[in-house]
Amino acid sequence: MLQGKKILLGVTGGIAAYKAVEVVSRLRKAGAEVRVVMTKEATEFVTELTFREISGNPVAVDMWAPIQHWNVAHIALAEWADLALVAPATANILAKAALGVADDMLTTTLLAVTAPVFFAPAMNCNMYAHPAVRENIEKLASRGAHFIAPGTGKLACGAEGPGRLAEPAEIVAALENFFAEGAQLSGVKVLVTAAGTIEPIDPVRYIGNRSSGRMGYALAEEAVARGAEVVLVSGPSALTPPKGLQSFVSVETAKEMREVVLREAETSRIVIKAAAVADYHPKTVSDHKIKKNDEELSIILEKNPDILKELGQKKREGQILVGFAAETQNLLQYAKGKIAKKNLDFIVANDVTKPGAGFNTATNIVKIISRGGEIEELPLMEKREIAKRIFDRILPEEFK
Ligand code: CTP
Repeated sequence: MLQGKKILLGVTGGIAAYKAVEVVSRLRKAGAEVRVVMTKEATEFVTELTFREISGNPVAVDMWAPIQHWNVAHIALAEWADLALVAPATANILAKAALGVADDMLTTTLLAVTAPVFFAPAMNCNMYAHPAVRENIEKLASRGAHFIAPGTGKLACGAEGPGRLAEPAEIVAALENFFAEGAQLSGVKVLVTAAGTIEPIDPVRYIGNRSSGRMGYALAEEAVARGAEVVLVSGPSALTPPKGLQSFVSVETAKEMREVVLREAETSRIVIKAAAVADYHPKTVSDHKIKKNDEELSIILEKNPDILKELGQKKREGQILVGFAAETQNLLQYAKGKIAKKNLDFIVANDVTKPGAGFNTATNIVKIISRGGEIEELPLMEKREIAKRIFDRILPEEFK
């Protein structure tokens, strides 16, 4: 998995810097190319020469050193990397990275990296438990950084607790897993729908619902992370579409969504309908803004097509069809009914009346129900984490 991968290793000033030498050695043995950026403090623990020899590449430390080779400049290094790893990551580098400080070669390079970034923290256990450090880790994680948790044991300072740099073999295994997961759905087309549809009443008004699109966008992001070719079809949403999509199609009405989805589904292996599609639309749409008068106003609603049901009728051999069910009562009974009615493989059901669940929240509480009736109940979780669990559940053996 690491064959030919370009790994940028940032080494910071902690006693565990010596273990980073073994990380480089293992990465190279696994076929990766490694370039090292050290902080000045790191050079107090291990020499630049050691990393130069073990990586077989020049080591960058000083922003102002005369350029010996074009590719040690921080931007070129950042662009070169398939993945950046900071090991050991001190409390100081976590704070700087969380703030976006750029005052040396490593911090400046990290800001320019667009590839995935991993931190392997190593520090005294009290420092690791400090709220400032926890906050910085959370902040970096919320921006997509990955963490390789430190081990627990006797630390160099004599204290005992979590803070010891993960073993080099574990660090390398974490990167291998990451690349393995990134290739899991390579060449597989995944269609995801998200957010609610809106159904116009007149040029300024519409019927809509509370769906933010968060769940669908998280699913699309997860599918991209697993290497799939992802098409995201979304109703109006304030969210930014994830990077790396094959295409993003913005729609407004159920009718528009149906057209795109039926077309895209023909070539998709996996279809996940997280969108909250309006079940009805106003029968007539006024060309002009409806003026108020003293009378009651009635709007006649006509049924929308059930896109998921049509997908179920047209489902091809091997295609995986996943629906969502937002319910306020009889969750399991209704959700199971929808699996049968719409010919689904799975349904993700949630009771939208529970706190932390449902529309327009960052979290949800869901049950993943299979066609065979198995139920996986997940506790309250971030929607991004739920997206991972959904993929873990719905992928057939051939992808595992
Ligand atoms: N769905 C769809 N087209 C519709 C309505 C719903 O594709 N016109 C899809 C949703 O994207 C979701 C699933 O169907 O994946 C469940 O939607 P829901 O509205 O809960 O189901 P309905 O069958 O419409 O049942 P009800 O509204 O009575 O609960």
